[in-house]
Amino acid sequence: MRKKIVAGNWKMNTTVAEGVQLAKNIVEKVKEIPSDVTLVVAPPFTHLVSVANEIKGTDIQLSAQNCANQPKGAFTGEVAAAMLKDAGCAYTILGHSERREYYGETSATLVEKVNLAFASGLKVIFCVGEKLDERNAGKHFEVVGKQIEEVLFTLSEEQMANVVIAYEPVWAIGTGVTATSEQAQEIHAFIRKFVADKFGAKVAENTTILYGGSCKPSNAKELFACKDIDGGLIGGASLKAEDFVAIAKSY
Ligand code: 13P
Repeated sequence: MRKKIVAGNWKMNTTVAEGVQLAKNIVEKVKEIPSDVTLVVAPPFTHLVSVANEIKGTDIQLSAQNCANQPKGAFTGEVAAAMLKDAGCAYTILGHSERREYYGETSATLVEKVNLAFASGLKVIFCVGEKLDERNAGKHFEVVGKQIEEVLFTLSEEQMANVVIAYEPVWAIGTGVTATSEQAQEIHAFIRKFVADKFGAKVAENTTILYGGSCKPSNAKELFACKDIDGGLIGGASLKAEDFVAIAKSY
């Protein structure tokens, strides 16, 4: 059975003290969530070690939001996958639309990053999603298919066991506009079939596919009830422990 995951992407928010407090608040409430749901928190780099200390001894997993496309050395300002593993991360998010859009992240770079993440023992939360004009032009399947093909289809079946796919339509991120459960289920089913066609039904059945984009306590239940939606990648609502845990309790 594939894993159900609710992951909080804190993006570039909170001070270290605020992040530690947020982690403490989540830890306090973690018993309230169903035992088959894994919580993941993805704070900024500077908070990782402190947050790792807060969640130690719980089932909450730590994730980074990005990693370098180089293993080590003279790459000023970058953080290597091995350093993230060393800081306590189990995962790193890769290919978030904000990185693709504002930092020119390409599929070629993402292939390098995914492989370095695996080499360091990290799992990857790989983000895909179309922009509004692409959705309006009916190109969402094509866009998402290409994003998956160019990166994930370079991997082996075994490596796919360490990939979580997050479908995040760009038009739903931080806008308050959520994809309807029909829209989300439709593309999640497409993604699973696309993965099945390449890697076989077993790999596809075992791949966790998260929905992200204005997911909140009021809409999580309907989204998570969909057959191919295995949880959420939460931005804004993950910054309040109460909302984050309420979303995880929606299962
Ligand atoms: P919001 O939940 O704030 O829309 O952000 C979603 C997201 O981008 C998570 O990675």
